[in-house]
Amino acid sequence: MAESITITDNRTGQAIEIPIVNGGIAATEWSKLLPGVWFYDPGFMSTAACESAVTYLDGDAGILRYRGYPIEQLAEHSTYLEVAYLLLHGELPSSAQFEAWTHEVTYHTFIHENVRKRFLEGFHYDAHPMGMLVSAIAALSTFYLDAKDIFDPTSRSKQVTRLIAKVPTLAAAAHRFSMGMPFVYPDNSLDFTSNFLSMMWKVAEPRFEADPILAHALDVLFILHADHEQNCSTTAMRVVGSSHADPYSATAAAAAALYGPRHGGANEAVIRMLTEIGGYENVEPFIESVKAGKGRLQGFGHRVYKSYDPRAKIIKRTADEVFSVTGKNPLLDIALRLEEIALSDEYFTSRRLYPNVDFYSGLIYQAMGFPMEMFPVLFAIPRTSGWLAHWQEMLDQDSKIARPRQLYVGTEPRDYTPIDGR
Ligand SMILES: CC(C)(COP(=O)(O)OP(=O)(O)OC[C@H]1O[C@@H](n2cnc3c(N)ncnc32)[C@H](O)[C@@H]1OP(=O)(O)O)[C@@H](O)C(=O)NCCC(=O)NCCS
Repeated sequence: MAESITITDNRTGQAIEIPIVNGGIAATEWSKLLPGVWFYDPGFMSTAACESAVTYLDGDAGILRYRGYPIEQLAEHSTYLEVAYLLLHGELPSSAQFEAWTHEVTYHTFIHENVRKRFLEGFHYDAHPMGMLVSAIAALSTFYLDAKDIFDPTSRSKQVTRLIAKVPTLAAAAHRFSMGMPFVYPDNSLDFTSNFLSMMWKVAEPRFEADPILAHALDVLFILHADHEQNCSTTAMRVVGSSHADPYSATAAAAAALYGPRHGGANEAVIRMLTEIGGYENVEPFIESVKAGKGRLQGFGHRVYKSYDPRAKIIKRTADEVFSVTGKNPLLDIALRLEEIALSDEYFTSRRLYPNVDFYSGLIYQAMGFPMEMFPVLFAIPRTSGWLAHWQEMLDQDSKIARPRQLYVGTEPRDYTPIDGR
């Protein structure tokens, strides 16, 4: 067999030929041939947990494609709602399909009054908006009991639409609550991103008109964040979904994974780092301290990308557009200087550390007026479509419940000692 590896089991002397399919070894094949021998792979560094047709990522070449379409083309020509359709359906919509999809999402943006009055308003006054979002998404499952019919195509597509449409409403509501501002109802005459900005920023004006440059920039950021194959939160979505939990509960689990600073919090860490550096003249000493092992250059390096993150290139352009409206973020000069020095320093180049998507996204969000607590929330809004695309794919694959093995390293069997004998 050409596409295979041969392993010799030194315990028995037996040579075992294992086929390689799509660049991997099927665990079912492995366990038939080597029963009781497990891979020890705590961070899934070398384990493909599924087959997926949603997103292609080549970290060495800096390539990211959704359903085959390069991220650069989607960011330039598409809209977030069209990309969400693409991720979920596998194809770009026709005009009629896009019109129907936009209509569906637009008319599901409202949340049940009790979600707001009884649930969101029950939080402590200084609740973190991401904590509120995670809980509110989970709470939606109690409002849509049909969500449990996950194999009914009509119910499934309804929950998908509801989630994509309602997450921005919940996100903005969480922000308004934490600011002590009244809730703003969705405005169905606005497009997806402008409606979110209206729910965020509207005060007393009859209709909030988002600056079209800012609305477009945010839409591009939503496209860039819509999916990233088997990252931590998408894996959480698939794992929880594999138990056949309803999509609200699975999405809440995915959002909870995103809440962690190692996943959705890196752009906040970048802003804190740039603020701490404080001035252009402090950049070089800071880089030296990083090289001496005192902390990391936040927004640099990636588990998968070992070249320039293609999203970071697009974001840099978007930043210029945003700053032309908002004025330059004063931290930008520090960021540009950091990038310039790091990209010409052997420490960073030899380790293949390049700016990732988070290096500039926080600067843009901050210039647009979003508080840092909202950064992971802004990530969760578009990633909802990616999570749901993977959830649907997983259910259609007749996947098994996620249940890894462990290598037991605890004590040998022993007898119970009564408390007075310990
Ligand atoms: C993203 C990240 C966790 C990837 O980590 P990883 O693939 O596990 O890489 P490692 O932690 O093994 O690092 C490999 C080497 O590069 C160094 N390194 C990695 N990221 C670094 C950074 N941002 N600044 C300085 N050094 C860094 C490590 O110290 C290590 O050096 P060594 O070989 O001398 O020990 C890591 O690059 C990081 O912490 N980046 C900063 C946080 C960030 O921007 N996260 C957002 C990711 S989208």
